[in-house]
Amino acid sequence: MKLTHYAATLTLLASSFAHAQLAGSKPDTTPVNHPVKSIQDTETPAQRDARMAWWRAARFGMFIHWGLYSIPAGTWDGKQVPGIGEWIMNRASIPVADYKALAPQFNPTGFSAHDIVALAKSAGMKYIVITSKHHDGFAMFDSKADPFNIVAATPFHRDPLKELAEECRKQGIKLGFYYSQDQDWTAPGAAALKTGDHQPPTFHWDKAQDGDFATYLHTKAIPQLKELLTNYGDSPAVIWFDTPTKDMTPELASEIVALMNQHPNLIWNNRLGGTYKGDTETPEQYIPANGFPGEDWESCMTMNDTWGYKSYDTNFKSTETILRNLIDISSKGGNYLLNIGPDSHGVVPPPEAERLREVGKWMDVNSEAIYGTSPTLFTTPTGELSATEKEKSGKPKFVPTWNWRSTTAPNKVYIEIFHWPGASFHLDKLPRKVTGAYLLADKTHKFLKFTQTDSGIDVQLPSAALDPIATVLVLKTAD
Ligand code: GLC
Repeated sequence: MKLTHYAATLTLLASSFAHAQLAGSKPDTTPVNHPVKSIQDTETPAQRDARMAWWRAARFGMFIHWGLYSIPAGTWDGKQVPGIGEWIMNRASIPVADYKALAPQFNPTGFSAHDIVALAKSAGMKYIVITSKHHDGFAMFDSKADPFNIVAATPFHRDPLKELAEECRKQGIKLGFYYSQDQDWTAPGAAALKTGDHQPPTFHWDKAQDGDFATYLHTKAIPQLKELLTNYGDSPAVIWFDTPTKDMTPELASEIVALMNQHPNLIWNNRLGGTYKGDTETPEQYIPANGFPGEDWESCMTMNDTWGYKSYDTNFKSTETILRNLIDISSKGGNYLLNIGPDSHGVVPPPEAERLREVGKWMDVNSEAIYGTSPTLFTTPTGELSATEKEKSGKPKFVPTWNWRSTTAPNKVYIEIFHWPGASFHLDKLPRKVTGAYLLADKTHKFLKFTQTDSGIDVQLPSAALDPIATVLVLKTAD
């Protein structure tokens, strides 16, 4: 479709969006009277901007889901267990003792913190968030609070988080810890979300899981969070909570907040629970049509269909899809947290490593259009609401269109062009005066001819794109 028509068509579509409840509405700023004030309750906007600055500029991070679940790798009792791999204990109703019996088998000598951090960097990722303890309760770090951990309960006897913290410090990227503060399927009293025929009120499947939630929090979760916040040097830069339940009352959550308040540079997400909003919205496995205007947000996604390793999940996203997601998210002011799931030897599945290296090749040339940029200046919708497909919520599914996106910097507007329009590129309106135009991948930055009038700008392009996935047009602007 010639871009001019595309722009015109989109204007028509724009009106339809006014009525659609697209994800990413304005932030809920109702003040909450928390038992312990969090940093978000007390800091000034300038203090928040300073605290979030590195994270906002980073745009791209590596999620790592790695734990005992990489041993069964999606199969239990000879049967393939549906769903995401790190949920196998819940979905297969594995008794606590049987699951804990995996620990002595876990000896991931293929793990190399250096190689994983180097891989993240090669992709252009600026931070890593690794599962320190997932819902299965197994700590991937040296924990004195609970012996069910990789140092005390396995022949590996190494602390991968310590090795990663050291490598991230050496290689200059930030390290965050995912921590399942609420669900813990091997700790008495902790929560379990329902799968299969597990019954309320606990949805537990083994009596060994029964107990008191506050006791779990006081004897395991809070002591382990203390260990994670104090034993790893200048890490973690991020704490990534997950699946809060009704058990996490504001009072109990405030005890965790009091702990985090001792680390004033820490960034944490919106999944603690207990009415605390944290710093970041966390859309999972999707990109909100309009992002979250005025908010910090991070879209986390798997590379295939599982967070934790499954031996038979080979449904890996293409490099094109990954790059489109990264550009789309950046154009809406968000971060992309893309997951890898190492196997039981600690090795990153080759298809995942390969895609990260391919993404890195594009970033080597074009990362200026991603890092530290602001969202698009344009209101051009980036897709349309499906007339047939529905979201789980029943709302019409938003289907993105892939002609172009845009990111913004002082004195520059970047246009990431997916669908090459041929001899010229037209924009209906640009709220800045253009002083020059060139293609970022053209090392000479040869200026392209363009005309800008009140009705928009037309840039003359070479006949072919410089990149098969996305070619970046740079518009130098007066402001
Ligand atoms: C969901 C899953 C969890 C995974 C998380 C990643 O909450 O329960 O297994 O770690 O998504 O965002």
